Amino acid sequence: MTTTPKRYLITSALPYANGLKHIGHLAGAYIPADIYVRYLRAQKRDVVFVCGSDEHGTAIPIQAMKEGTTPQAIIDKYHGIMKQNFDDLSISFDIYDRTSNPVHHETTQEFFTYLNDRGELEVKESEQYYDEEAQTFLADRYIKGTCPNCGFTGAYGDQCEKCGTSLSPDDLIDPVSTLSGKPPVKKATKHWYLPLNKHEDWLRNWILNEHQADWKTNVLGQCKSWIDAGLQPRAVTRDLDWGVKVPLPDAEGKVLYVWFDAPIGYISATKQWAKNTGKDWEPYWLDKDTKLVHFIGKDNIVFHCIIFPVMLRLHDFIVPDNVPANEFMNLEGDKMSTSRNWKLDMQDYIDDFIKKENGGPQLADSLRYYLATILPETKDSEFTWKGFQDAVNGELVAVFANFFNRTFVLMHKLAGGKVPRFHNDIADAKDNELIEEIKKSKGGIENLLEEYKFRDALFNVIDLARKGNKYMQEKEPWIKAKQTNSEGAVTAEAQAQIDNCLHVCLQLCANLAIFINPFLPNTAKKMCHMMKVVDKMLEWDNAGSLKLLSVGYSLRAPELLFRKIEDAEVQYQVDKLKAGLEKSKMEQEKANGNEPAAVSKEQTSMVDTPQPANVKAEIVYDDFDRLDLRIGTILTAEKVQKADKLLKLEVDLGFEKRTIVSGIAQHFTPEELLNKQVIVVANLAPRKMRGIESQGMILTAEEPDGKLILVNPDSLAKNGSNVK
Ligand code: MF3
Ligand code: ZN
Repeated sequence: MTTTPKRYLITSALPYANGLKHIGHLAGAYIPADIYVRYLRAQKRDVVFVCGSDEHGTAIPIQAMKEGTTPQAIIDKYHGIMKQNFDDLSISFDIYDRTSNPVHHETTQEFFTYLNDRGELEVKESEQYYDEEAQTFLADRYIKGTCPNCGFTGAYGDQCEKCGTSLSPDDLIDPVSTLSGKPPVKKATKHWYLPLNKHEDWLRNWILNEHQADWKTNVLGQCKSWIDAGLQPRAVTRDLDWGVKVPLPDAEGKVLYVWFDAPIGYISATKQWAKNTGKDWEPYWLDKDTKLVHFIGKDNIVFHCIIFPVMLRLHDFIVPDNVPANEFMNLEGDKMSTSRNWKLDMQDYIDDFIKKENGGPQLADSLRYYLATILPETKDSEFTWKGFQDAVNGELVAVFANFFNRTFVLMHKLAGGKVPRFHNDIADAKDNELIEEIKKSKGGIENLLEEYKFRDALFNVIDLARKGNKYMQEKEPWIKAKQTNSEGAVTAEAQAQIDNCLHVCLQLCANLAIFINPFLPNTAKKMCHMMKVVDKMLEWDNAGSLKLLSVGYSLRAPELLFRKIEDAEVQYQVDKLKAGLEKSKMEQEKANGNEPAAVSKEQTSMVDTPQPANVKAEIVYDDFDRLDLRIGTILTAEKVQKADKLLKLEVDLGFEKRTIVSGIAQHFTPEELLNKQVIVVANLAPRKMRGIESQGMILTAEEPDGKLILVNPDSLAKNGSNVK
């Protein structure tokens, strides 16, 4: 065993703030890091866990064009969503920062200047692709073409998303500008390069010798093939206007490459964390006794194992101790993909499970559990909804929660709701066997966690619960309870055996809470609540002990730890996934100027009435059923100050009155709305507009010329009636 480092700095890849992130991302870089960090915290180690949004690069302005808005609006939107998503899934960053933070701009510029002043960068003029129409150079995702490696026709200038090869614009066959769709021309421009070739010997020794034994084979393999192919100088600047400005007078219109600035985001986030907490950031990046670990997905290996370490070393910062990159997670038999809409976004899971009435943080743990059992640690893995259901119902509910629940039920029934004592004199082989298992679990689970083998570690925890169930099954305290004396009371001998069984089971429950805590923190908390112990009990040092719950201590009544996942929920998700794919296919067709593939020529020609334009993609009944539409009567209507489009309405839904802010002021006067019946979307998430919380929406029909008509019932209906 190696000695324990003085402190830990743990990072998860900064996700691009250009869209929703899916569970493949979650399983790649966030869940494993969070498990590790929670384990380290339980060990009372000094640890800081940093992450944040990656807000630069061409991906951001491209998304802004797609959504018809500004890059700033895009990063604000997605930064907010991602931060909240991670929170809802109990990812416990010490800071979730963002690279638009001025601290980050300063830190990055200082870093560049430091390297440049020491002559560690090279300046070169070269011919690069240029879009004459858009009058910009075409860096990274601003240029598309055919991948020389796999023939995929939509490869970007920095990477082919199909085969994962990293590219430069010159590698693309038949390149076209993403901005104008036209073939580009070449134009001379000047850039700064990091000469990786100069650091090849150091890299080779550091990675392939020093870390040959402790880095994962998939990571070592990728590094080796990069180094063996011969390292080239890498441009660290771009001709763009979105990013961190190059801090030099002769670099007008240039920014630093997103992969130069983003990893420095780990440093800026640490600085910001230190600022917020009154701590010192420097030891975390300068002191050799800090263990730096980067959690990432496999597409980020070269940046974290080759480029960033070279930058860090040139600046006399520490380099990572490990980079336990994960492979990819597939979904229902196919690659997860945002463009094909084959994915499960964190946001969707949160909406469909955690935010539902029978949801809550427990449902965050259900997902964390399944993902932790299928982490793509050594090869690609597969998420299926059936697999999710089986893992939750068959393992979490039937094994783990079942053991806990049975122990609590029996303790209340057969031991007066208190921790019974252990009678040493009658201890038997089965008791001793389970006691030994509990004691030795600590070391085993700990070693696996230290080696980033989270799946195996979790497997051991569940297995321990399984052993608990088996033990209880063999001990049968409920049968012992039938051994009664002439007065009908349980005999002293039988009670002693019951006590021993429940004593050991209860100590095991406490141990299970400690072991499960890094994986399922909400569950561990709930278990502590039921055992009436404070969170301090979860400290790792306590694991393996059989004295965690004191004899005579009374415990709470059992509560459900997990709920089952129903067949209908699985079906709904599978249908939704398929509908999403269809929708994206239709959109793709539309974008290509074709008719949607789903509608045949014959079908269209049979219809001679004009088709309503842009009918949205088909939905399943359940999608529709999620809408709660009600009849309501408008009681009051008034203009919202300084907002010429908004009216504030009070609507009576029968069972309650709602305030609704509606953008209809240019179509209706407040007076003409009074006492009108309308259809209200009653379960729309509340939204603040001009400081007023709008608690729903009223339905209107928009005619082709833009005129609005209220959608209201033909004859008077009772307020609150359902509309279906
Ligand atoms: N934004 C990148 C991605 O999503 C990851 C950046 S990791 C960092 O692939 F190191 F650069 F921060
Ligand atoms: Zn390719």
